[in-house]
Formats: sequence, C-alpha cells, structure tokens
Amino acid sequence: MLDGKVVFVTGAARGIGLGISQAVLEAGGRVAMGDLDAANLEEARKQLLLETGKPEADVYTTGLNVTEESSVGRALSAAEKHFGQLDGLVNNAGVIRMGPNIDTRVEDWNFQFEVNVTGTYICCNAFAARLDHAGRGGAIVNLASNAGKVGYPNMAAYNASKAAIISLTRTLAAEWADRNINVNAVCPGGVNTPMLMDVAKSIGERTGEDPEALVKTMVPAQLGRHIQPIEIGRTVVFLLSDDAAIIRGQSINIDGGDTPY
Ligand SMILES: NC(=O)c1ccc[n+]([C@@H]2O[C@H](COP(=O)([O-])OP(=O)(O)OC[C@H]3O[C@@H](n4cnc5c(N)ncnc54)[C@H](O)[C@@H]3O)[C@@H](O)[C@H]2O)c1
Repeated sequence: MLDGKVVFVTGAARGIGLGISQAVLEAGGRVAMGDLDAANLEEARKQLLLETGKPEADVYTTGLNVTEESSVGRALSAAEKHFGQLDGLVNNAGVIRMGPNIDTRVEDWNFQFEVNVTGTYICCNAFAARLDHAGRGGAIVNLASNAGKVGYPNMAAYNASKAAIISLTRTLAAEWADRNINVNAVCPGGVNTPMLMDVAKSIGERTGEDPEALVKTMVPAQLGRHIQPIEIGRTVVFLLSDDAAIIRGQSINIDGGDTPY
C-alpha cells in the first residue's frame, strides 16, 4: 500500500509509534523512527528488522526532541538524506500527566501542551517546508485521542491538548490542500502500551487499586480486549496511502467503538 514511500514516525521507540513503524514496513514502506529515548530506539530497530525481515536500509533511527525546532530540523534532514525523500509524517510522540485539574501545576499543564501540541506543530511545519522544497506532496497523520473528544476526568491538560490536535488537523488539511499534503488524525483509546500502564499506576496511587488489575479493565467495551499498537499502525498506514486522498482533515476514532461521535 505504501510502495517504497518514506514515513517519519515520532516517538517511535515503543508503544504505538513502534506499531506504526512495523505497519509501515509491512505495507512496503520505509521508516524513519525518531525518539528521545536512544536506548529503546535501538532495541526497537533490532526488533523490527528481526520481525519483518526487511533490509537494514529500510529502517532509519535518529534522536529527536519534538519540542525543539533544531532537533526536528536535524532529524528530518538526516532521514531525507538517508532515503532521498520524505512522503509521510506521523506525529505520535506524546505525554500524559494525570491528576485532578484543581491540583495540576502550570508546569505539568505546559509540559503536556509543549510535547503534544507544540511538538506536532513544529514537526508539521518542518515536514511541509521540506516537501515544498522538494516539490512533492505527502501525508500527515496526527495522534489525537478519544480523550480529546470525551473529556475524561483527572486528565484535563491531556484531553485539551488532544482536542487541540483535532483542531490543528482540520486547519492544516484546509490550509495545505494546495500543497498536496493530506492531513488527518486518529483517536485511539485503550491501546496496550507503557502509557496505558502509567495511567493505571496514576489512578492506582489515588484509589489504592492494583495497577495490573486496573489496566486489565481499561479495554474498549464492545471489543472486550486491548487494542494492539500494530492495529493502530494499520489504520495510520491507510491514511498515509494514496487511497485515503478522499479522507481529509478527519479525526477518526479507532477505539473499539467506545466513542460514538
Ligand atoms: N496508549 C493509548 O491507549 C493511547 C490512546 C490514545 C492516544 N494515544 C496517543 O498515542 C501516542 C503514543 O502513545 P503510547 O501509548 O505509545 O505512548 P508511550 O508513552 O508508550 O510512548 C511514547 C513515546 O514517545 C516518546 N517521546 C516522548 N516525548 C518525546 C519528545 N519530546 N520527543 C520525541 N519523542 C518523545 C517517548 O520516549 C516514547 O518512546 C501518544 O500521542 C498518545 O497520547 C495513546
């Protein structure tokens, strides 16, 4: 489905970013994986090559901090140099800090906006500038969340940051249509990743519940099981493909039916 296309995935060292990277390779694409966590990134690279049997040249890894323009610029340029082109960007890097809104420190609020929203904005602009320069079109998929629609308690900053992603996605789709850059978002829920475990731990600290038991209950009701990162990856791959040209500016729920709007 991706036929040699090059996709840059942020926050790719684990969880959903790793699942998306695997799905890109499965679909015949090539992947550039960026993350803050260099050790995890190297492990992820080895794991992907082993599991997919793809040539080493199809997987490029680079250090990346999405909140720093210079880091993003370096990482995208290095990936473009390695592959000779860029076609897709997946803004997956994200963070959550749980807690009642009344107790949320401004630092924690700002941190989540900085990574989730400002990071996405920086990466989108840097990617679009490179495509403009190369005279090419492309596609962007942003990781929002069903939290950006539902508004779950005790995670107001995260919810609001994901709602901002939904709005940014809609705006950039309209603004960049004449650049031939298609922009969509996905809204997952209940995906089996380290972030979901962090959420369970944080709830457990307040309620005294066992995080291991809690995380088992955090499954989409209709599906009755956790969503796996590779399943998110396969939807993202479709949105990156030419077949998705008729889907534009959307934020699509991929949460096992939990959010009906
Ligand atoms: N897990 C879920 O149920 C779920 C549901 C909805 C949305 N999401 C979203 O999906 C995305 C991935 O979630 P996950 O569960 O895989 O998270 P995760 O915490 O397991 O992985 C996130 C990755 O992003 C990296 N990262 C964090 N800050 C970074 C930065 N400044 N620059 C570069 N990399 C950075 C981390 O090192 C980590 O490897 C996030 O945007 C998250 O909000 C997750």
